[in-house]
Amino acid sequence: MKVYHDKDIDGSILDDLTVAVLGYGSQGRAQALNMRDSGVNVVLGLREGGKSWKKAKEDGWEPMTHLEAAEKADIVLMLMPDMAQPVVWGEEVSLAMRKGKALQFAHGFNIHFGEVKPPSDIDVIMVAPKSPGPELRRQYEAGFGVPALVAVHQDASGKALQKALAIAKAIGSGRAGVLETTYQIETETDLFGEQAVLCGGVDQLIRRGFKVLTEAGYPPESAYFEVCNELKLIVDLIYTSGIGGMYRAVSDTAKWGGMTIGPMVIDDHVEENMRKALKAVQDESFAKAWISESKSGAKKFDELMAECDALEIEKVGKEIRKMSGLEK
Ligand SMILES: NC(=O)c1ccc[n+]([C@@H]2O[C@H](COP(=O)([O-])OP(=O)(O)OC[C@H]3O[C@@H](n4cnc5c(N)ncnc54)[C@H](OP(=O)(O)O)[C@@H]3O)[C@@H](O)[C@H]2O)c1
Ligand SMILES: [Mg+2]
Repeated sequence: MKVYHDKDIDGSILDDLTVAVLGYGSQGRAQALNMRDSGVNVVLGLREGGKSWKKAKEDGWEPMTHLEAAEKADIVLMLMPDMAQPVVWGEEVSLAMRKGKALQFAHGFNIHFGEVKPPSDIDVIMVAPKSPGPELRRQYEAGFGVPALVAVHQDASGKALQKALAIAKAIGSGRAGVLETTYQIETETDLFGEQAVLCGGVDQLIRRGFKVLTEAGYPPESAYFEVCNELKLIVDLIYTSGIGGMYRAVSDTAKWGGMTIGPMVIDDHVEENMRKALKAVQDESFAKAWISESKSGAKKFDELMAECDALEIEKVGKEIRKMSGLEK
């Protein structure tokens, strides 16, 4: 993959351009503030009267509607939830996208699966920071950045990549490294990663580990520490020094147990399930099912969140985090 750093990126293309950030949640807030601090001319487009409208005002913005912001801007960043983007695009943004403008996403879902179909005379680009928004902001404020992926789906102006790189630099990602990819690769690997490993996989590992220990009669507090709380320390080690670095920092007993019993727990059967998950991403059946769930009112989605909130590990965990001052 081609990698860019600040020194490889000429950000001056943004000097004469206005960037609209639509949405002020996890990514929107971090990206808007980082770009503003980098001297970019940023306008905010939000839904009037929403929660983030108030938050944006507190942060010193003068928010306007999505349509007004898209009218003023040369580059429009779609930073509301993936399932909301096709509606905001259809009802507002598409009306403002004249020739030569650029439409930018932080995840390829709606372009890759065809839910947003932009006209051929605009640029369609992606800047996808590889962290949650608050971390993107924290790193920027600390003088660092988080890595990002950039991609070009459509280059109408001949400057699409230059625009994407300049934005990546302005949000601080050029300090860490900006990797060039495609909409397809970003979309499919991002969905697989969050489903099989990062969100879904880790969640199930914790839930099931907790269940096995508590069903065997161990105190829930002990179970929480052993299968959940310490996970952060282990992941931090892997994040900074790799899997081997993690193993070198734990006891020999943990090394031996981890490397011999781990493959028995997460076995070939799990890998087979991962392949099924990847296939559902590739053949679009996951996307179709999620779009249909969202369009029909997201009842199952709400039920699953409620089920998660009601788990015993969530109750014990909350008490422990309160006790240790991590959570109010
Ligand atoms: N979360 C991440 O860390 C992350 C990482 C990489 C990429 N991404 C991508 O970045 C994009 C934004 O994700 P996000 O997690 O940052 O979104 P988010 O925090 O859920 O977005 C919240 C913002 O979207 C607005 N919004 C919510 N529903 C809306 C609707 N139906 N119509 C119009 N506006 C609506 C909210 O306004 P109100 O306050 O008015 O509700 C708020 O300003 C997505 O494409 C996502 O895949 C996210
Ligand atoms: Mg994702």
